[in-house]
Amino acid sequence: MPEPNHTPGRPAPPDPATLKQLQARHYLHSEHDFRVFRELGPVIIVRGEGSTVWDSEGRAYLDAQGGLCLVNIGYGRRELAEAAAEQMAELPYYHTYWRFSNRPAVELAARLAEIAPPGLETVYFTPGGAEAVEVAIKLARAYHRARGEVQRYKILAFENGYHGSTFGALSASGLAPHRDPFGPLVPGFVHVPPGDLDALAATLEREGPETVAALLAEPIPAVGGVTVPPEGYWPAVRELLDRHGILLIADEVLTGFGRCGGLWCLQDVFGVTPDLLATAKGLTSGYLPMGATLCHRRVVQALEEAGMPFLHGHTYGGHPVAARVALGAIDILLRERLPERAAILGERLMAAFRATGNPHFAEVRGKGLLIGIPLATDGRPWPQGSQFRVEAECFRRGVIIGVCPYTPVILLTPPLVLTEAEADRLVEVVDAAVRAVAPAVWGG
Ligand SMILES: Cc1ncc(COP(=O)(O)O)c(C=O)c1O
Repeated sequence: MPEPNHTPGRPAPPDPATLKQLQARHYLHSEHDFRVFRELGPVIIVRGEGSTVWDSEGRAYLDAQGGLCLVNIGYGRRELAEAAAEQMAELPYYHTYWRFSNRPAVELAARLAEIAPPGLETVYFTPGGAEAVEVAIKLARAYHRARGEVQRYKILAFENGYHGSTFGALSASGLAPHRDPFGPLVPGFVHVPPGDLDALAATLEREGPETVAALLAEPIPAVGGVTVPPEGYWPAVRELLDRHGILLIADEVLTGFGRCGGLWCLQDVFGVTPDLLATAKGLTSGYLPMGATLCHRRVVQALEEAGMPFLHGHTYGGHPVAARVALGAIDILLRERLPERAAILGERLMAAFRATGNPHFAEVRGKGLLIGIPLATDGRPWPQGSQFRVEAECFRRGVIIGVCPYTPVILLTPPLVLTEAEADRLVEVVDAAVRAVAPAVWGG
């Protein structure tokens, strides 16, 4: 049988062993850890279908990480491949600077406005998530400037938030190991503890609320530990910010497009409307790179009324092929009612994890199919780094899971099309893997 990506008439692709040698020699990975790479070796994924991916040696894995928390509609959707090919033949590229645009980008903006939280009717497209966050930060500052409040520049963000790797997004992120190697970072960002209204109010008081432009936050910080805020937190935050004229920016790069059991996490799970919403990942389910910043009409109106241009741009913003694929991915997501499915399956999955009685699961928490399991034994949290042992053990058993990089928490974000049988297998493998590595973690 030919290799799955082998086009007849072209030379065969390199064999798996050669590919891995090339990877080791030429590839600098995202979050590349040289020691781990040497110890565990490279992995090359070559094919996907539903919630399963195959590596270059033909081994199948249940992908409970959903790529990088984004393949919401699952792998192998042929209709998206066909839509992309059709668009590429018709118009592969046109930019969206000044007054130019292309048909799929405009259609997608209108479609997003239809399904967005109320009032968020203008869309700015970016190549990915971090850039969508950058745009939201810039628009928040521009909004206040347009209204004559030039002193409002500070951006509040959560201590365990993750917003991307570009400098603005990184400065907003609170995860110290991610930030520290690259300082000095961008000034004007102030970090607050997540889920704590009193601490937020005290920070506002200390900083001077009239100097604060926005709070930028994930509705549920994911990479930072899946810390679900207490009941009533988000409505109270919205009220506090409104009292001081401060904008709310939702980072829904990961939580958007059904992940948390509603289309939007802040709006549909917590009942709160943001002023700006940065998203990416589930927008195309990873079939092509694309991000978007959804803007409330009052933010855009303020710029327009002040005659203030928005001097920001990305060559690949509003890419027609990505936009066409996003339209198809959104159709699938809504047609198959995948946000609702995430809500139901998420509850079932969390109940099944609790029912294992695993003594090392401190808690099973989350919303929809964003699930976090902190690891602790007899009340003692596992040492930082030990979560990677669980990940490696699951991988050895044919299941790819995510883990929070800086805190010992398992992070599960499977495709929303995960079947019930796959969910059962996930629980079984994670439970067994945690029990298997626990003695070594505690030096047994
Ligand atoms: C909440 C959140 N914001 C922003 C980003 C950055 O997105 P990207 O990697 O597309 O730049 C991520 C990526 O994981 C994320 O989880």
